[in-house]
Amino acid sequence: MEEKILVVDDEEVICNILVRRLGREGYSCTTANNGKEALNHFYKSKYSLIISDMKMPEMTGIELLQKVKAIDPKMKMIMMTAYPEIDLAVNAMRLGAYDFIIKPADLDLIVMSVKKALESKRLEEEIEAYHNRLEEMVEERTAKLQQAYRFLKKSHLDSVKVLAEAIDAKDPYTRGHSDRVKRMSLAIARQMGFSEEKLENLEYGALLHDIGKIGIKDEILQKEGPLSKAEYKYIQEHPMIGVKIVEGVEFFKEKLPMIRNHHEHYDGNGYPDGLAGEAIPLETRIISLPDAFDAMTSARPHRGVIPLQDVLGELEKCKGKQFDPKIVDIFIQGKIYKL
Ligand SMILES: [Fe+2]
Repeated sequence: MEEKILVVDDEEVICNILVRRLGREGYSCTTANNGKEALNHFYKSKYSLIISDMKMPEMTGIELLQKVKAIDPKMKMIMMTAYPEIDLAVNAMRLGAYDFIIKPADLDLIVMSVKKALESKRLEEEIEAYHNRLEEMVEERTAKLQQAYRFLKKSHLDSVKVLAEAIDAKDPYTRGHSDRVKRMSLAIARQMGFSEEKLENLEYGALLHDIGKIGIKDEILQKEGPLSKAEYKYIQEHPMIGVKIVEGVEFFKEKLPMIRNHHEHYDGNGYPDGLAGEAIPLETRIISLPDAFDAMTSARPHRGVIPLQDVLGELEKCKGKQFDPKIVDIFIQGKIYKL
C-alpha cells in the first residue's frame, strides 16, 4: 500500500522541496500551508504520517499536534522548526511527536526519520493486530470450552439420573422417588438461600441418597406385607452400602453425608451414626424430610395411601424428633409437598 504523507509548512518552497524528495522515495504527499488546511486534509483522508512546521500563523505546530493526537493518538508526527528551543522540543515530544528536526535540515535526515517513523507505526499496528487476534482466539477457545463443560455437566447429570431411576426401579412402589426427593429438597434449599453451587451438590445427593439399595436383595425391598425385625435391620444397611459404592469417587466426596446420614433423626434416634441436631449436615437434614414424606404418601403393598392431611399432621408431630423443625415449617408453609 502506498504510504501517504501530509506535509504542513507556511513556506511553499519548503513544502515543494519535501514533496519532491519524498516523492522520489515512493511516498505520495499532500501539502497544507497552515494548520486549518492540514486538519481539513487529515479529517478527509487517511495519512500514515504528518510532517509539520512549528511556527505558522493562526495555528502553531504544537496546536496541530494536539488536535491530531486527540483524534488519533497513534498518528505519527515529525515536527520541524527553524527556531530551536529546548522547551519547545521537550513539549512536542511530551505531546507525542515522533521526532523533532531543526531547519534547514538535511533532506536525507528527514527521509531517514520518515522511514523510522513509518517502520515504528507498522510494528505498532502489527502488535495491535496480533493482540486483537490473540483476544479473539482466547474468546473462541473459552466459548468452546464453556460449551464442552456444559455438555459434560449435562451428560454427567443425565447419567446420575439414569442411575437414580435404576435405584427406584428396584422397588416398583418407589418409582420416581429420587426425582421427587430431588425437586422438593431443591425447593426447600432455595427458600433457605442456598448458592447455585450448593444447590448442585444437593441435587446430586438427593438423586443418589438411596444408591445403597442396589445392594439390597429385591425380595426384601419388594416384600408384600410388613418386614420382620431382621429384614428391617438388613434394609438399614443401605446407607453404608451406598457409601461403599461411591466413596472411591472424588466427585461424590461432598455427597457422602447425604448418602450415609439421610436416615438420621434430629433427636439422635436415627441410623447409622445416631447423629443429632446440627451435627447432621444441613443438606442431609433437608433430604430426609421429602424422603420420609414421599415414602409416607406412596402406597405400599401392606397399606394404602395415607391421606395428605394425616401425613402433614405426622410431620408436625415429628418436629424436633425425626426432623429439623425449621425445615418442617418451610416444607409445610411453603406448600413444597405440592411439588
Ligand atoms: Fe433411604
